[in-house]
Amino acid sequence: MAIEIIDLKTGKRKEKEIKTIEWDSRSATKDSYEHFMIKEILEQPIAIRKSLSQDKEKLMKMAIGILRSRQVIITACGSSRYAALIGRYLFSKIGGKFCDVIISSEFGYFKDSIDKNTLVIAVSQSGETADVLEGLKEAKKNGAEIYSIVNVVDSTIARMSDEVLYLNCGPEIGVAATKSFLSQIIIFYILAFAMNNKTDYAKKQLTNIAELIENALPYTIEITKKIAKETKDQNDFFYIGRGINFAVASEGALKLKELSYIHAEGMPAGELKHGTIALIEDKTPVVAINPDDHTYAETLSNAEETKARGAVIIGISDNESEVYDYHIKIEKVSKIFYPIACVIPEQLLAYFLAVERGKNPDKPRNLAKSVTVK
Ligand code: G6P
Repeated sequence: MAIEIIDLKTGKRKEKEIKTIEWDSRSATKDSYEHFMIKEILEQPIAIRKSLSQDKEKLMKMAIGILRSRQVIITACGSSRYAALIGRYLFSKIGGKFCDVIISSEFGYFKDSIDKNTLVIAVSQSGETADVLEGLKEAKKNGAEIYSIVNVVDSTIARMSDEVLYLNCGPEIGVAATKSFLSQIIIFYILAFAMNNKTDYAKKQLTNIAELIENALPYTIEITKKIAKETKDQNDFFYIGRGINFAVASEGALKLKELSYIHAEGMPAGELKHGTIALIEDKTPVVAINPDDHTYAETLSNAEETKARGAVIIGISDNESEVYDYHIKIEKVSKIFYPIACVIPEQLLAYFLAVERGKNPDKPRNLAKSVTVK
């Protein structure tokens, strides 16, 4: 098909580069699903496989860039920021590289510390979020290098960046991020593993995990639906986790707030005793992100402390425990990969709670898919 672009003022033809976007138009339809959101949650195993398809040389180049930078700052908003927090743990744990995560709307307040030795990594599904763009402008002004992890090809953030990794997960229609969040995490895994030259290992592991979570979907749907039915009248949920699971907990709480309008907080389990435990009452749901990793025993003990004060514990874990009033069993995977197994259960729980409360999860009130104002 030939396309001509003509400047209406001068009448002259304009040369424009043609870019092909590999998005399937079926992704923008609901198929037989009730909501885009459930469709997008359930297609995540496919999204993982697609996100893994990245150019190895580019990954290596970016991994080396990250390792060599004097300071690395990741900036993002909403769910993308929680993906960034997971990325931060992965960079530290796998690549031995410390970095900070700054919420984009706060980025400008740190501009005095950004210079030409700084690498800023922007994470954004839309690639158009105004706060992220604003932060990147400040960073550029100060001479920083910019990498980005975005979904929408050729978006403004992608164009502003020195290097871009695309999520490749296809268009996301539901306002609340689901598959883009998981895909962002996948990119962080392969970038972190590229830091010690182990991308092939990471890809193999992640491909296997995609299959495991795919097979677990019918069970995960059934159990989260049941829990949603029985907890739908509660007004406050607390999500707890330690280390990388704290970031996972924070995203779980955000999903619940956005979709069901239930107040929810995600917090480091060890921080409960410094205030929030005062809010635990009879039947308050506490969701413990508690896979069998090095945080397991301590998180379980924090969950127990809330149970002693009346909380109902929803454990997302591969281990059984009598502390859990409800147990969402996840797949056993290599320890560092547990976040991937915990995300879908918390998305489904939020989705079914929204549906149980009669809310439309595709169109949460007051929220927009892409926030292009500051
Ligand atoms: C909005 C959306 C969130 C999203 C955030 C960041 O608030 O409702 O789901 O996480 O923007 O969007 P971005 O496109 O930058 O990832």
